[in-house]
Amino acid sequence: MYHEVEGSQAMGFLATKPTMIITTLHASGVVNGGVFGAYTNLSPSQVGTAIGTSSDTYANILREREFVINVPGADLVKTLRIFASNVPADKSEVDEAGLSTKDGIALRTPSIAQCMAAVEFEFEKEVPIGHHSFVIGRAVGGWIREECLDTDGKIDIFKARVITDFKYPKPLYVLPGEVVEG
Ligand SMILES: Cc1cc2nc3c(=O)[nH]c(=O)nc-3n(C[C@H](O)[C@H](O)[C@H](O)COP(=O)(O)O)c2cc1C
Repeated sequence: MYHEVEGSQAMGFLATKPTMIITTLHASGVVNGGVFGAYTNLSPSQVGTAIGTSSDTYANILREREFVINVPGADLVKTLRIFASNVPADKSEVDEAGLSTKDGIALRTPSIAQCMAAVEFEFEKEVPIGHHSFVIGRAVGGWIREECLDTDGKIDIFKARVITDFKYPKPLYVLPGEVVEG
């Protein structure tokens, strides 16, 4: 038996999303943090992600022309609701979550020190889509915890215990589970 639908309701069947925290700079220099999902790799150096145009993250990226994608491990899962909430612009979600920042490598925007990895992006272009904008960035630097670095130079998602998916809007998050060789 198949549940068939016509129209955009079918988009709900494509709902697998990696979880990330994007850090940006407010005009005051305060570090903003927002939780986002569904980034996609576009090329070896570019990613795209859909960001609500009413978010602080969107305004900051357009003004400062840079952003950092931080990869939280499972130990930060309880902090994610703070990064999804409306924290006033004079306060940092990073502080509110009890976390700290790490200075940028190629950018002025800092990352979150307690994350497993962070990649810095220069804003390249956007594609407006309704209440969201598909924001495209080019990687210019980043870091990973040494213990999470795999032999292929990429992140070891098991050691990093990254959040691979979530069941929005429920606060349910998925960690890497069963692995089979295909
Ligand atoms: C797990 C999770 C994933 C989210 N993914 C997105 C997303 O992909 N795009 C988006 O615009 N908002 C997303 N949100 C909502 C933002 O986190 C929320 O709008 C937040 O307030 C943005 O922060 P900011 O205003 O500081 O930028 C998500 C929230 C949660 C909890």
